[in-house]
Amino acid sequence: MAFGHGKVILLGEHSVVYGRPALAASLGKGVRARAERAEQDRLEVEPWAVSVTPAEASDEPLARAFGEVLAMYEERPKLHVRAAVELPGGAGLGCSAALGVAVLRALDETLVVDRDREALVEASMTWERVFHGNPSGVDNAMAAGAGMAIFRRGEPLEAVHVAEPVHLVIGHSGAPGSTKTTVAEVRRQHEREPERVERIFDGIASLVRNARLAVEAADWPGLGKLMDLNQALLSSLMVSTNELEEMCGAAREAGALGAKLTGGGGGGCMIALVDDDETAERVRDTLAEVGSDAFVVRAGA
Ligand code: PMV
Repeated sequence: MAFGHGKVILLGEHSVVYGRPALAASLGKGVRARAERAEQDRLEVEPWAVSVTPAEASDEPLARAFGEVLAMYEERPKLHVRAAVELPGGAGLGCSAALGVAVLRALDETLVVDRDREALVEASMTWERVFHGNPSGVDNAMAAGAGMAIFRRGEPLEAVHVAEPVHLVIGHSGAPGSTKTTVAEVRRQHEREPERVERIFDGIASLVRNARLAVEAADWPGLGKLMDLNQALLSSLMVSTNELEEMCGAAREAGALGAKLTGGGGGGCMIALVDDDETAERVRDTLAEVGSDAFVVRAGA
């Protein structure tokens, strides 16, 4: 069974689109997929109950992405791909990239195509562009499975040595977040006020560098403070929402060491850093109440 990992961005979303580093971790949850010969090309995605035939010119993103990916294979039989998604979609957890990587891996397995990791990530960018327009590539790199890493656009991933897995609670606000929309919003601000926005990106880049050191030293209070600062800078880019702010505040009050949105924002998920099981449970219960859902993960192992 082919697999694509979900991911969390610990720090650095949005500025990563403009060449700054991001600190990200692959999740154990993701997308599983299997391909088999069939009479017709088809992609089925559960539990969404979605079934599409490939169409490169379609308005339906999934049909278009599937069509573009299939077009990369010369001379092949018709294929039926079944995918099972374990992540909320449109939530900042890299669901579309995980699906793209899982589908490509399933096709490669069935067609006996040998592709190294870098080529897989590159091929999955074709898929991701259908959903996000101008993706940095961080989701795709992490979907291929990378533990914890520093990602910088166009550069190889830098593995981060994690002293211990990072203990996080992921809270879903219940509102869908459109990464395409928030990335476009940041672009508008960057065009209008390049100096202000570049300063914010530089600020985030220095938080990311310090966060890497904090993770390597297992300095969780330090990492939590850096996450809070990153959240303040993301709010100033107007990609946060009232719900996400409320959830971050509630998580801190319940004992989290730091909290911020993760991924595109404008809805979707936030993450809270915790340092023991009891706090993790309390924060999870609080976030499930304030938002729509919450679960505990250990990321970056
Ligand atoms: O919302 P997600 O999971 O696709 O994460 C997006 C991360 C951004 O930095 C906002 C966009 C990107 O392409 O890196």
